[in-house]
Amino acid sequence: MNTQTNKHIPVMINQAVNFLPQKENLNIIDATFGGGGYSKLLLMNKNINNLIAIDRDPLAKIYAKKLENKTNFKFIEGQFSKIDQLVSEQMNKKNFKGFDAIFFDLGMSSNQIEDKKRGFSFQINSPLDMRMSGKGFSAYDLINNFSEIEIANIFFKYGQEKYSKSIAKKIVENRKKNNIQTTEDLIKIIKNSIKLKTKKHPATKVFQALRIYVNNELHEISEALNKSEKLLIPGGRIIVVSFHSLEDKLVKEYFNHKSGKKWRSSRHNPEPSDTGQITLKIITKKAIKPDNIEIASNPRCRSARLRVAEKIMESSL
Ligand SMILES: C[S@@+](CC[C@H](N)C(=O)[O-])C[C@H]1O[C@@H](n2cnc3c(N)ncnc32)[C@H](O)[C@@H]1O
Repeated sequence: MNTQTNKHIPVMINQAVNFLPQKENLNIIDATFGGGGYSKLLLMNKNINNLIAIDRDPLAKIYAKKLENKTNFKFIEGQFSKIDQLVSEQMNKKNFKGFDAIFFDLGMSSNQIEDKKRGFSFQINSPLDMRMSGKGFSAYDLINNFSEIEIANIFFKYGQEKYSKSIAKKIVENRKKNNIQTTEDLIKIIKNSIKLKTKKHPATKVFQALRIYVNNELHEISEALNKSEKLLIPGGRIIVVSFHSLEDKLVKEYFNHKSGKKWRSSRHNPEPSDTGQITLKIITKKAIKPDNIEIASNPRCRSARLRVAEKIMESSL
């Protein structure tokens, strides 16, 4: 068996866990198991009845193995957009009423970023891949097959890359000679397309966009949030740590919408006429940021944002 050591330092873990409902015998879903930091802490420090951990990355199983001797822990490989199906066995158990909390610690783990074969990092030369599950189409397929306009749109929509058009144009020019194979090949093209010096690495936005698109990340989150609510008991909580602003915006708008707060995705958009049924109460009025001590010891966490909402009591529905 593969015995890789876990390189991931859990982000905002103490703040997130502090939002658990104050009760004994908790039933919890850790929807983004990663290296297992959240699950381990919960099993060690809390009174846990049942902890179901999910991850779409088959390599996460390596880290879950260490916890599988615990009778109150179960790891399931799968996408959290199918969270309802993944936990249906537990939901169908006699006398089981639902979960007390569902954790989403979004984004990638350091185990994925630092993997030399997976192409998530612009600091490591590796094949263009970026699939968290290792299945489906990859960043290589996208870069070498999608049309110039499709590529430009993806870079703009998911990376807010202002040079999206010129980078897409150069990609299409270059791939006529040879397929674009590696992260290094792609970075060279990006550098040649952006004439100005940027503060951040010039490939930051393109890599973010590719990862979001390849893994269908925003759709995954919307589906998961919608389904999660139905798996909670009243008073149960959805606890989300997001990794970039597009994710955080989605979570914020979902919580606003479901808590009946006036909402619109932008002040330029019309206000929706019907906010639907009110099922959540927002617990974190503003997103919570990591503190300076955490940022100093783990700079990767600096863009993290924590938001929590609670399913409201049936009587108030
Ligand atoms: C930031 S890491 C979680 C780290 C974890 N909390 C820990 O302490 O080690 C995010 C994890 O979520 C997983 N993930 C991302 N999107 C997913 C999805 N749609 N379905 C299931 N797992 C997903 C990734 O594969 C990754 O392992």
